[in-house]
Amino acid sequence: MAKSSSKPWLRRHITDSYVRKAKEQGYRSRAAFKLQEIDEKEKLLRPGMTVVDLGAAPGGWSQIAAQRVRPGGRVVAIDLLDMAPIPGVAFQKGDFRALVFDGRADVVLSDVSPNISGIRDADQARVAELVEEAAALARKVLAPGGVFLVKVFHGGRFSTLLDDMKRGFRTVQVCKPGASRSESRETYLLARGPK
Ligand SMILES: C[S@@+](CC[C@H](N)C(=O)[O-])C[C@H]1O[C@@H](n2cnc3c(N)ncnc32)[C@H](O)[C@@H]1O
Repeated sequence: MAKSSSKPWLRRHITDSYVRKAKEQGYRSRAAFKLQEIDEKEKLLRPGMTVVDLGAAPGGWSQIAAQRVRPGGRVVAIDLLDMAPIPGVAFQKGDFRALVFDGRADVVLSDVSPNISGIRDADQARVAELVEEAAALARKVLAPGGVFLVKVFHGGRFSTLLDDMKRGFRTVQVCKPGASRSESRETYLLARGPK
C-alpha cells in the first residue's frame, strides 16, 4: 500500500540503498530490484516471452521484464497513471480490469497498490479484491504452465487469499525479496500453472 510522506519515511527513502542503486542503474523505482531478485532465484523471465505487467508505473518492473524477454519477447503494461515510454513495452493507461490483450501470456506480474484510506478493514478488503481480480485476469490470459507473481499484504485476508490462489493454480509459494523492506507487510505470491 502507498505510504504517507511523513518525514521519517522521506528520510529513509532518500538514504535507502536501493533507491540510490535504482538511480545509478537507471531504474525508475526501487521496486525493480524486487522483481530482479525474485527472477534471479525463480528464473521466471526468458527471451521470447510475453509478459503482462499490471500496476506498472513508474516502470521499474517493466524495465526489468523488457530487458529479460529480449530478443523476441514483449511486455504489455497497464496503470491508472501515465508511464514514460520504455523500449519493448506497450503501455495502456487505465484500470487493469479493462486491459486489452490478445493471445497468451507466459508471465503476469501484478505490483498493484491502491491508495490507502487509513480505514484498516476497508483497505484490507480493497487490496484483497484487487488481488482476486488480478488473479482472475491472470488465469484468463496465461498460457498453460504460465506464471503469476502478485503483491499481497500480510493482514486480515492473507490466508484467505493464499487459499484462493491455491485453488486457482497448481503451485503457490510466498516470496519476500530482500529489496522489500522488512518492516513492510507486503510480500509476493508466486503462482504457477493456472487450473
Ligand atoms: C507500487 S506501484 C508499482 C511499481 C512498479 N511495479 C514499478 O516497478 O515501478 C503500484 C501501482 O499500481 C497502480 N494501480 C493501482 N490500482 C490500479 C488499477 N486498478 N489498475 C491499474 N493500476 C493500478 C498505481 O497507480 C501504482 O502506479
